[in-house]
Amino acid sequence: MAETRRTATLNFDNKSIELPILSPVAGPDVIDIRKLYAQGDVFTYDPGFTSTASCESTITFIDGDKGELLYRGYPIEDLAAKSHFLEVCYLLLYGELPTQAQMVDFESRVTNHTMVHEQMHYFFRGFRRDAHPMATMVGVVGAMSAFYHDSTDISDPWQREVAAIRMIAKLPTIAAMAFKYSIGQPFVYPRNNLDYASNFLHMCFAVPCEDYIVQPALAKAMDRIMMLHADHEQNASTSTVRLAGSSGANPFACIAAGIACLWGPAHGGANQACLEMLREIGTVDRIPEFIRRAKDKDDPFRLMGFGHRVYKNFDPRAKVMKESADEVLGLLGVHNNPLLQVAKELERIALEDPYFIEKKLYPNVDFYSGIILEAMGFPTSMFTPIFALSRTVGWISQWKEMIDDPAMKIGRPRQLYVGEARRAYRDVRHR
Ligand code: SDX
Repeated sequence: MAETRRTATLNFDNKSIELPILSPVAGPDVIDIRKLYAQGDVFTYDPGFTSTASCESTITFIDGDKGELLYRGYPIEDLAAKSHFLEVCYLLLYGELPTQAQMVDFESRVTNHTMVHEQMHYFFRGFRRDAHPMATMVGVVGAMSAFYHDSTDISDPWQREVAAIRMIAKLPTIAAMAFKYSIGQPFVYPRNNLDYASNFLHMCFAVPCEDYIVQPALAKAMDRIMMLHADHEQNASTSTVRLAGSSGANPFACIAAGIACLWGPAHGGANQACLEMLREIGTVDRIPEFIRRAKDKDDPFRLMGFGHRVYKNFDPRAKVMKESADEVLGLLGVHNNPLLQVAKELERIALEDPYFIEKKLYPNVDFYSGIILEAMGFPTSMFTPIFALSRTVGWISQWKEMIDDPAMKIGRPRQLYVGEARRAYRDVRHR
């Protein structure tokens, strides 16, 4: 619980309102305005929530000026170098790194929930083959509410726990099924003898006609990508999951809402949009034209994979992703990948340009991820589904934290109304 040691005084219209200032473990102090409307009959106004803390949380901390990202206090650089995705899942869900015995038990529980109900295969048949995999994921994950009735009662801690495990376990299976369906290949069942990332790659790239051996280095790169995307404080999709959960909606419906929000190109859809942009630029000599467009106020074009609401310094995940891109492309023998050359030159030019320096625009997590995923054989349409399956543990951890909070109440913002004042109805003959 944050501490209160001092107050802020708000004076207006002959009113003087004392507002407690709460001091966090790290990050800016917050002014607690919960009593402002009752005491002052006024709302605050903060579209886009640029200055608003929506909740109290213990899960992830970001320092945008220092380019710092901590999962339960552990720097993302350390976790990316020394941990693995399922261990990070345990850390985000339960707050501590697991012992060996806890890790074995957790991995067993997740592994034994990776299959989906056989009936769910028929959901995919209802979609066109060219449906975007995010469309199928939103639909199929929401439909999980129709199957797993023994883990939808959010008032039962055990059902909340089972729902969390099911989501972490089944999202890769559903994402792989969406991919297979889109390319007209048969679904591949999960295999209990494979680790999480290897299992996902096997479900995506194996075919019934021959064995598919997952390259350990690619599995490690996939696992690192999952870790880097696992959680990120109160971003748009996490806030969507929290708001949906605050109404008491079941966890599957809440995660489906998060997937829908993540799809946007300003958010998780940026990895697909970024690769499409790099492809459109094509060659290094065309970069200045796109830099000019990004700076032109009258041109809606933005450099995808650049900028961030919180990071006003580098995004620590982008640094790790850039190193991983070099490693994976080297492994795959695509040293001179033109997209990577364009990306590196674009980054260099942008970081020297006064516009980007002044606006503190740096590459974010989405800038390099697409290059790695494409090199692994994924189409651009699978980039955001991979972001979604990786972020599921963050969404469900934040959802659990909110539901576990006895003070939780339904999220219901107010507004600044600028529409018509009250007026009388006029008969159509007098309009
Ligand atoms: C993710 O919130 C999270 O944590 C998200 C995420 C997570 O892990 O959950 O980190 C994942 O979503 C990363 C961001 C991926 N999106 C993109 O790469 C899309 C391109 N970036 C932008 O659309 C933008 O930077 C945002 C949406 C990421 C942030 O937008 P903000 O914070 O609302 O900032 P803004 O739009 O007010 O921009 C500030 C200024 C503006 O210029 P002015 O109006 O002040 O003159 O910077 C400019 C913008 O025009 N600007 C850009 C730019 N991003 C911002 N100009 C050119 N190219 C860009 N990419």
